[in-house]
Amino acid sequence: MAVVVLDFGSQYTQLIARRLRELRTFSVILPGSSPWEHVLAHKPQALVLSGSPASLTDPHAPRPDLRLWSSHLPILGICYGMHLLVQVHGGEVVPAWVREYGRAQLTYAQGPLFSGVSTPFTVWMSHGDTVRQVPPGWKVEASTSDCPVAALSSPDRRMFGVQFHPEVAHTEHGQAILERFLDWAGVDRSWTPENIAHELAREVRDRVGRDRVILAASGGVDSSVLALLLVQGGVEHRAVFVDHGLLRLGEREEVEQALRGLGVQLHVVDASARFLTALKGLVDPEAKRGAIGATFINVFREQAARLGHFRFLAQGTLYPDVIESAGSQGAAKIKSHHNVGGLPAELGFELVEPLRWLFKDEVRALGRVLGLPDSICLRHPFPGPGLAVRILGEVTPEVLDIARRVDHEFIHALREHGLYSEVWQALAVVTPLRSVGVAGDERKYGYVVALRAVTSQDGMTADWARLPHDFLDGVAARITRRVPEVGRVVYDITSKPPATIEWE
Ligand code: XMP
Repeated sequence: MAVVVLDFGSQYTQLIARRLRELRTFSVILPGSSPWEHVLAHKPQALVLSGSPASLTDPHAPRPDLRLWSSHLPILGICYGMHLLVQVHGGEVVPAWVREYGRAQLTYAQGPLFSGVSTPFTVWMSHGDTVRQVPPGWKVEASTSDCPVAALSSPDRRMFGVQFHPEVAHTEHGQAILERFLDWAGVDRSWTPENIAHELAREVRDRVGRDRVILAASGGVDSSVLALLLVQGGVEHRAVFVDHGLLRLGEREEVEQALRGLGVQLHVVDASARFLTALKGLVDPEAKRGAIGATFINVFREQAARLGHFRFLAQGTLYPDVIESAGSQGAAKIKSHHNVGGLPAELGFELVEPLRWLFKDEVRALGRVLGLPDSICLRHPFPGPGLAVRILGEVTPEVLDIARRVDHEFIHALREHGLYSEVWQALAVVTPLRSVGVAGDERKYGYVVALRAVTSQDGMTADWARLPHDFLDGVAARITRRVPEVGRVVYDITSKPPATIEWE
């Protein structure tokens, strides 16, 4: 059972799904023109029609499967979604005299969606078209000074349209409005981490039965939660942790201890020498990534063969990847080149992907319920190729050791100052540059390292974190003192775009 969000290309569609889930309602996003059978496959209890950059005045504008209109399901149409409701029921949508972008004031609002909310309040608008004529029998339920039809409902109140975007944080009471819709539609509100854990573990058990499952544990939150779900489902599994020697200080031990303690059948392989050999002499970032990826696959394949027969491979695919590969119109693009640590189809396993409905924050919440310690649950993302993409140029044991110690100091300082969870990701880069400095009376010629900390929602775009100057000052002193090979510390103040988060 789900609320199905039909996506017509709005930049906010993922937000709608997230907001509904925050309201404990399971929601899935499907392309707006999905065949009705695809919608029904999710046992929809209600539908939300998203906004769109398109205009209904264009005959080629996207439209849903016509069978939707005779479904009798409760529907909320947002912006373009509202225009669809209006047009199909005999009203009229025209280009607006005054286009509204950004904040507007709702001066009038009544009806079920707005109960308990008093006007005026701010809403987020983004539209070039407007409703000139309301369908026969429909009621106007909200207005702004420039938009007389800012919300409306059908005669039987099964369909609602809002011109503004309740899913956007700038809309005051947006979440309350969505909640009123869910309550009015009588949809299930039991999407909690506890229930998800139970449900997903049961699903995995049903799918896998008595067969064996293998997975690649990386120490990150996704693969750790995946492993715990297998434990919870009572599934026979082996989690292979390939230590490529490019991990953070103490990371392998920490993950080993946490996962073993929670019942994961962990198989750790120290393949660091092999990875270092594969990286020898490589300076080009793509060549380094390629060497790591190929070595990873070889090591994993050998280990799988040693551990016996496995029918299934569990993979930590998350919902944004699913939305992306389904080609949902307008869904945010996610990283595609980051498949180091991913395993190719030729390995011949059947895939189990129990996290495929979850956003990252939901995976974290699930991890908590499954007993994963915060040190792993709230861990910053860490790239598959590890520190190798944070060492510019060749990866040698000497530089790797420096990278590890600098990273350790930076991350510890963030934790000690309560800043770790304030940033989305923090990292240290060791450059091949050396610069001159003085230590005591001596001239010193040390490495230039760059610290980077970013704030972000999903890693697709990011802003550099405004860490306090005093903190940065302390970190620079700490690093140069404790890692004497470093002569200079700089802080990266580039956002993404144009820069990426990692330096390579
Ligand atoms: P960029 O550097 O592209 O990174 O802005 C965005 C996010 O992806 C992570 N990243 C990777 N993850 N394999 C991974 O598993 C990779 O090759 C890789 N490269 C970057 C990066 O840490 C950031 O969170």
